[in-house]
Amino acid sequence: MPSHLRLGCVAPDFEAQTTQGYIKFHEWSANAWTVLFSHPDDFTPVCTTELAEVARRASDFAKRGVKILGLSANDVSSHNRWAHDIQSIAQAPVTFPIIGDSDRSVATLYDMLDALDPTNVDAHGAPFTVRDVFVIDPQHIIRLKISYPASTGRHFDEILRVIDALQLSDRHAVTTPANWRPGDRVIIHPRVSDSEAHSLFPDHENITPYLRMTRDPTSS
Ligand code: BEZ
Repeated sequence: MPSHLRLGCVAPDFEAQTTQGYIKFHEWSANAWTVLFSHPDDFTPVCTTELAEVARRASDFAKRGVKILGLSANDVSSHNRWAHDIQSIAQAPVTFPIIGDSDRSVATLYDMLDALDPTNVDAHGAPFTVRDVFVIDPQHIIRLKISYPASTGRHFDEILRVIDALQLSDRHAVTTPANWRPGDRVIIHPRVSDSEAHSLFPDHENITPYLRMTRDPTSS
């Protein structure tokens, strides 16, 4: 069944218990970028490496104005016990909240449950979550959605890279090419006319009439 949550949709609001108390999602995320990310199960190896990586990279998210919110179909007391292991592996504190979604209400709302992997189920055969990532902007709009299987840990450099690209495209009339990294050349947005391109980006280069490259407007 296709997900009803598409890029450009308002991220559904919800209320949930987390390791940092009860939250109303839209209130909690108001005026900030948010990464809402699920993992399959507490006390499992790939998940532990992922949450340790996010704990270590907390300042990389904070400096982009991004709040982080984890989730799995375990309860908050399980998350709190597991956080000790994460902290000792990361050598960094777990400063972001993790939703205790043992009734799978948020996972169902966001269509995060695993429909494929028969090893990614609880003792009763109920599916756990996959490794979903939602990047949500300060207006609560879903701007990125990626799903990874339980067997594959995420690369958080890529998630930060997309956040950089989204924030750049929101501020300037540019898009980002394949394999773009901050500081690389960018593409002038197709909606910008050639005459506007000349005044906005005087040193740009036309590779083809529709592929107009210019320097990253934020680099000096
Ligand atoms: C893991 O985190 O290692 C994992 C969790 C659920 C299924 C498979 C792997």
